[in-house]
Amino acid sequence: MRVLVTGGGGYVGSVVVAEFVRQGHEVWVVDSLVQGHRDALCGRAELIDGDIGDSQLISGLLRRHSIEAVAHLAAATVVHRSLSEPRLFFEENLIKGLALVHAMLDCGVQRLIFSSTASVFGEPKYVPIDESHPLLPISSYGESKLAFERALAHYHTAYGLRAVMFRYFNAAGALSGIGEDHRPETHAIPAIFKAATGASGPFPIYGTDYATRDGTCIRDYVHVADLANAHLLALERIDHLRFAALNLGSESGISVRELITEAEWVTGLRVPTMDMPRRPGDPSVLVASSALAKERLGWNASRSNPRVILASAWEWFQAHPNGYLK
Ligand SMILES: NC(=O)c1ccc[n+]([C@@H]2O[C@H](COP(=O)([O-])OP(=O)(O)OC[C@H]3O[C@@H](n4cnc5c(N)ncnc54)[C@H](O)[C@@H]3O)[C@@H](O)[C@H]2O)c1
Repeated sequence: MRVLVTGGGGYVGSVVVAEFVRQGHEVWVVDSLVQGHRDALCGRAELIDGDIGDSQLISGLLRRHSIEAVAHLAAATVVHRSLSEPRLFFEENLIKGLALVHAMLDCGVQRLIFSSTASVFGEPKYVPIDESHPLLPISSYGESKLAFERALAHYHTAYGLRAVMFRYFNAAGALSGIGEDHRPETHAIPAIFKAATGASGPFPIYGTDYATRDGTCIRDYVHVADLANAHLLALERIDHLRFAALNLGSESGISVRELITEAEWVTGLRVPTMDMPRRPGDPSVLVASSALAKERLGWNASRSNPRVILASAWEWFQAHPNGYLK
């Protein structure tokens, strides 16, 4: 298929692009590079340095390249930033997201794969979290993603838009040559490596008094390669699926302290840490049920084991201590 990937220069997007290209799809990328990296694409796809909110640019691309499907990953993503800057998050994730979909509809492009998030669920009422779990986000990041999901449901009913909405849990891990490089780095695994190697100060543990087995938050880490594989399966099956919201996680949770212990085992280094107060917007436990993705896509999180994830991320970190900076 001929696919436009928004945010394809970013962490998950660049792995999705690599997987699409490997399977023979033709890919174009729109990325404003506010976070992404040109080098993350390694020449796999043409990069258009632009904004998803630029309807003229997007319509031009959709028409010129006869695009058949869009994988939409571009977003403002830092959950705790969304608490103080909701305007940015609704602008980027809802208003610009809708501008993208409107351009698609105007150009007759009816297939969308959207990167949503476990943040749409808020503080869990039960775990593992399945797709029937109440949708009660506690951050404007989660709210902005949920509002977009809800708009898509109406567009599916009224305009026949086909949409697969993936609620990722914590994306993690690396492929050889493609890894995680956010600035500032807010994701746990690269931040742990930075602390372990002395590239940063101690790793801050936000909240040590949660009602969990060791007082720290529990998260479900899913290998970025497994996420990319889900996108590939969705591209193949979207005409059959038509409209679906699917959770993507490993279905097992690891606490922050357990993750640090695993990272020490993988790296052979001690990770200095610093206990900090809880951060607003952080639920205590997020663990997925991915039964529906397995059933509807035949998806499996086969690489989503903490040790496999950490080993791949550590290999990438050692080869790229400055991320994509030369
Ligand atoms: N990483 C995770 O753990 C995680 C978890 C849940 C959901 N998600 C979602 O997955 C997607 C990808 O996340 P990521 O971690 O790869 O983030 P990322 O920041 O690495 O990638 C996002 C990309 O979008 C680009 N971008 C942002 N705003 C843009 C705009 N207006 N126009 C064009 N490009 C723009 C950025 O430059 C960046 O390259 C996001 O939608 C995020 O909300 C990620």
